[in-house]
Amino acid sequence: MNQQDPGTLYSQHLGVLTERADTALARAGFDHLVIPSGTQHYQVFDDRDYPYAVNPQFKTWLPLTKLPYSWLIHTPGKRPTLVFYQPFDYWHVVPDAPSGWWVEHFDIHIIRKPEDALALLPKDPSRCAILGEAQSALGGYVPNNPDVVINHLDWHRGYKTPYEIALMRQAQAHAVRGHRAAEAAFRAGASEFDIHMAYCSAVGQDANELPYGNIIGLNEHAAVLHYTDLGKQAPQPLRSFLIDAGASAHGYASDITRTYASAGHDEFQALIDAVDSAQQKMCAAVRAGFDYKQLHVDAHLSLMGILKDFGVINVSPEAALATGVSAALFPHGIGHLIGAQVHDVAGFAAGEHGGRVERPAGHPYLRMTRVLEPGMVVTIEPGLYFIDMLLDEVKQAGNAASVNWNRVDFFRPYGGVRIEDEVLCTDGEADNLTRPAFAAQA
Ligand code: GLY
Ligand code: MN
Ligand code: MN
Repeated sequence: MNQQDPGTLYSQHLGVLTERADTALARAGFDHLVIPSGTQHYQVFDDRDYPYAVNPQFKTWLPLTKLPYSWLIHTPGKRPTLVFYQPFDYWHVVPDAPSGWWVEHFDIHIIRKPEDALALLPKDPSRCAILGEAQSALGGYVPNNPDVVINHLDWHRGYKTPYEIALMRQAQAHAVRGHRAAEAAFRAGASEFDIHMAYCSAVGQDANELPYGNIIGLNEHAAVLHYTDLGKQAPQPLRSFLIDAGASAHGYASDITRTYASAGHDEFQALIDAVDSAQQKMCAAVRAGFDYKQLHVDAHLSLMGILKDFGVINVSPEAALATGVSAALFPHGIGHLIGAQVHDVAGFAAGEHGGRVERPAGHPYLRMTRVLEPGMVVTIEPGLYFIDMLLDEVKQAGNAASVNWNRVDFFRPYGGVRIEDEVLCTDGEADNLTRPAFAAQA
């Protein structure tokens, strides 16, 4: 496992971003790339802010995730400028003075009021590609988000730099600390809420810093794909536990799922083991040139093979796929790109100029349709669930005979199984970022 110091890799990363920005600006006919970090927002009829979420375009340039009202300015041929908002404020903690591996690469201007940025932005707003949300507008500097620029930058964000990979490996290690603590809490009989607290404490991140809301489901709750209710009482008896939880490292995400059975629930444990072993084969299929859409379809066949072996379906995997039975039991996509955003951008992009590669018919939740190439990091997250709403549709479609309902009744109280890792596509073998992090914290 490569645990390189991101600081030594940053300069190369900045060079790559500079080159991408230069090309995008030249194509779109702008002179400057201007990226506001974003602003804070009040909740409706209230004076409390929503949690601040940095503009993802900003955090790919700078590992600064808590710096609202700041601006990055890139002009081809010049050192980039950072307008760094550090207010005089005795109500809140203000951002620390700029420090870290990135500082030497920027011309930094400290401002004390948001409007002080105006004097530091390029003179003519009409020559700027300004990437951000509408609320970030300042004077005549209104985000215009030109398609030509965004399409180019988003497409290339699919190819991670070594700096980004190093941060993503850190995000794996952080999350695995939480997963280990969460499993221990489950084995000790904790509630979903208490498992969540054990996770956050072990990771050292709370809901505002984690890349997405923790999914922590006991028993039947494991069947709710994005279950985030966090029950305060542990159900009795405890049969199963699904946790889908990540962590952040300088703005980069991990997204990991594991499923556990309570001791003595051997058949469900066997189902978990079968999905885990199939998942590892799917991870190994992450190869340059392989179509991710095909990986998704192959996952359906593999998962239906498992359900046939476990007596849950009576038909061939191919028949289950063709009739939609498979989509009722594996009702989400095999995964997505991941990076600065947990569901990273441009999963459907046809190229750097834009365009879209549609999902295969009958697979409405797949989040990535690109062909795998070196530098891409994708999740591989097969799952099997026992969801009455979807199984009713199987019956209504006339496919009830494809399913062994006694076996559904047996597995329903466990909810479901999902196993999710991040995998880096290389020139050669797949590089699973997640498994070594678990091995290192065995
Ligand atoms: N945690 C959301 C997902 O796996 O995509
Ligand atoms: Mn996940
Ligand atoms: Mn995911």
